[in-house]
Amino acid sequence: MKTLRYVFSYTKNYAAPLAIAIFAMIALVGVELLTPLFVRNLIGAVQGGVWDAQTSGYITRLAVGLLGLYIARGVLRFLSSYEAHIAGWGVVTNVRRRIYEHLQRLSLRFYSDQQTGQLMSRMINDSDMFERLVAHAIPGILVHVLTLVGVSVILLSLNWKVMLLTLVPIPAIIWAMRNFAKYVRPAFRMRQKELAELNATLNDNLSGIREIKAFTREEAEAGRIGKHIERYRDSLLHALRLMATFQPFVEFTSSLGTIVVIYFGGRLAFQGTLPLQDLVAFFLYLEMFYQPIRALSGDWEQVQEALAGADRVSELLNEEPEPYDNPTAIALTERAQGHIVFHDVSFQYDRGDTVLEHISLEIPANHVVALVGPTGVGKTTMASLIPRFYDPTAGKITLDGHDLRELTLQSLRRQISMVLQDVFLFHGTVRENILFGRPDATEEEMIQAAKIANAHEFIEKLPEGYDTLIGERGVKLSGGQKQRLSIARAVLKNAPILILDEATSSVDTETELLIQQALERLMLNRTTIIIAHRLSTIRHADTIVVLEGKRIAEKGTHGELMARRGLYWHLNEVQTNIEPALEALRRAEIAAD
Ligand SMILES: Nc1ncnc2c1ncn2[C@@H]1O[C@H](COP(=O)(O)OP(=O)(O)OP(=O)(O)O)[C@@H](O)[C@H]1O
Ligand SMILES: [Mg+2]
Repeated sequence: MKTLRYVFSYTKNYAAPLAIAIFAMIALVGVELLTPLFVRNLIGAVQGGVWDAQTSGYITRLAVGLLGLYIARGVLRFLSSYEAHIAGWGVVTNVRRRIYEHLQRLSLRFYSDQQTGQLMSRMINDSDMFERLVAHAIPGILVHVLTLVGVSVILLSLNWKVMLLTLVPIPAIIWAMRNFAKYVRPAFRMRQKELAELNATLNDNLSGIREIKAFTREEAEAGRIGKHIERYRDSLLHALRLMATFQPFVEFTSSLGTIVVIYFGGRLAFQGTLPLQDLVAFFLYLEMFYQPIRALSGDWEQVQEALAGADRVSELLNEEPEPYDNPTAIALTERAQGHIVFHDVSFQYDRGDTVLEHISLEIPANHVVALVGPTGVGKTTMASLIPRFYDPTAGKITLDGHDLRELTLQSLRRQISMVLQDVFLFHGTVRENILFGRPDATEEEMIQAAKIANAHEFIEKLPEGYDTLIGERGVKLSGGQKQRLSIARAVLKNAPILILDEATSSVDTETELLIQQALERLMLNRTTIIIAHRLSTIRHADTIVVLEGKRIAEKGTHGELMARRGLYWHLNEVQTNIEPALEALRRAEIAAD
């Protein structure tokens, strides 16, 4: 009941179509109930009457009346179906909007635990269930109950004895439908599951087509997919076999009624207690009597399924949104100074060990801080605490003296430009992608940003320059090109805090140098957190922070750290001396071969 009320809370703007649909459905039941009476009345008239002007007029009236009824039926059917669907799909639209808005507000913590496919299925498939409920199941119950009541009243008034006899097959019908629901429906659901499985496997498989080719796994993978295809066929055939068995059985139980009416009604008609026209009416109404009984079990099941879908949707909507804005949170309206302090910060993802422990670090405004350390040590994690993608498990971070949690999320994130480690570009034009962080920038500003990022030159060479479509369905960019676009995007946003996570990792040394110069210009009046594996790129940072084993192992300028001969010195040695030496050795070996 609670879920039902919840579903109907989404019908808000669709009260009118829903009301029209319900009215049309009720009227339609009335029309359907009246129709057989025309045949009955005709037979009645033929039996007792003679052909004269009066009967001729009567028949004309019957014909015209029936014509009117059929026209009304057409109009009502249109209204009931169309308006119910307007309401149903309207509700789905409301729900989907609501889900998407909610999805956007959920934390990255939530996303790291979810399969994208699952979320898409919630948004697309489960929300479909609302339509089934509003446009089919509930109207179905209404129509079928009304029809049942209507037909019962008519049959009772025609002849209550025969009416009671027609009830005889009902237990058999109900029994048949119960079994139908018990065996056939689950089989069809199973088929649905196999289909989803096939879809998911195929999706995964095609995404890895490059690997399949590289490892020559074609045959094995074809076999695996083939199995899924066969499993799907088998589940389908199983469902169809059950269906083929049950369908005739269900049909048989409802035809028992016809036998009952022939046997008893026939007798009563001969004995004169049941007029011919009423006997005929019984036959005409019989199907209208049993059909709703059969349909109701399906309606009920649909309601159950729809409510289950609605439950899954509401479960998602009940998911707590992102680190909430504190009620007392203030908006940073001015440009921040960019003074960031980590106060004894520890952090742990939902799953897994602590990543950071007791990190204390002061980043003065307009300073450049480099984070270095072995892979997986927590550099990206540490940087993502600044825009509050996650909140520290202990300790706090302040910006210009405000605890980040005391600032509104939006106003905080407006102060930060990021170039992330895995660049993501949306399907759209180059222009749209660069303007993503600041859609109102002028053409000059955009080109300026692209120039700073060293991207302008390659963009101009694209088939349609800034209007070239990129992303999944567009022109494919190289890793380095993507990186430069995302730098342009960050440059254009022109925020006082800049976070660069491996921003130059996928460009060649020459481009790296160019970007390096660009970034240095950019870092001038900004607080910058830069993460890089190649230590040569962060040599000039004001402070270099070396992370190791969840903590800050050492920090200082390049000169200071080199003098210490600690971890930084060691990493530096490996990169500047040992790696090139190994490389030279390898080359020499190849040459010798
Ligand atoms: N979303 C997540 N959920 C759970 N654990 C995570 C998540 N992201 C990262 N981790 C874990 O946190 C640790 C630190 O990861 P992080 O990405 O911060 O490392 P990193 O220093 O940036 O490494 P790299 O140099 O390879 O980019 C790793 O052990 C990683 O497995
Ligand atoms: Mg990283």
